[in-house]
Amino acid sequence: MRINKYLAECGLASRRASEALVTDGRVKVNGKIVTSLSTTINAGDLVTVDGKRAEPIHKHIYIILNKPKGYITTTSDEKGRKTVMELLGNKYSGKRIFPVGRLDYDTEGLLLMTTDGDLCNRISHPRNEITKTYIAKVENEISEDELNKLRGGVVLDGVKTKHCRISLLDFDGRISRLEVVISEGRNRQVRRMFESIDREVVFLKRVGIGELKLGGLSRGEWRELKPTEIEYLQKV
Ligand code: URA
Repeated sequence: MRINKYLAECGLASRRASEALVTDGRVKVNGKIVTSLSTTINAGDLVTVDGKRAEPIHKHIYIILNKPKGYITTTSDEKGRKTVMELLGNKYSGKRIFPVGRLDYDTEGLLLMTTDGDLCNRISHPRNEITKTYIAKVENEISEDELNKLRGGVVLDGVKTKHCRISLLDFDGRISRLEVVISEGRNRQVRRMFESIDREVVFLKRVGIGELKLGGLSRGEWRELKPTEIEYLQKV
């Protein structure tokens, strides 16, 4: 974020007046005076004005959750089903946190949750083509021919899916385990892609969004994103 916008979000001055704070040499970033208006502030930077720390009034919350199956990715549910909000406990009660995008009721894995609507829009916008990585399981062996059909794109609701990457990770004599990397976010996309070649996905877990990885979080567990992870998402 540009320095003048950052200072304005700290409630110190309007964007225009913030420019003067910078050009007058009153602003330091990580201990160094900055006078250039093209300076950008990244998550984790320490900004001071006249020696006093400047922090945005509204500090956003960014959470990564390992969603278990059996939860819906909305903030409330008329049918009384469990929502992912319940997994956060009451640490953030009163904060307007919402899930970024959707995971089906039966899908598990990486779900981002935030108060930052701009970030949510950027990540969800098809133009940004951020990749999503899934582990999918199907029963029995799956042939290269079948995988090539999926890689090249299949028609869902009259529109072909974009090329995607699929690799067979292993086959234990009963179940084929695959890694599927797509850059779209259509409704139930992975399950419907396999349905289109008459194969049923019996397990689906998202393990990555772009460079962000689920890592070692157990089912139902969550943590706040690290500054480097927030910075990465802000550049998407
Ligand atoms: N594709 C699906 O089929 N389901 C999800 O939840 C996400 C991607």
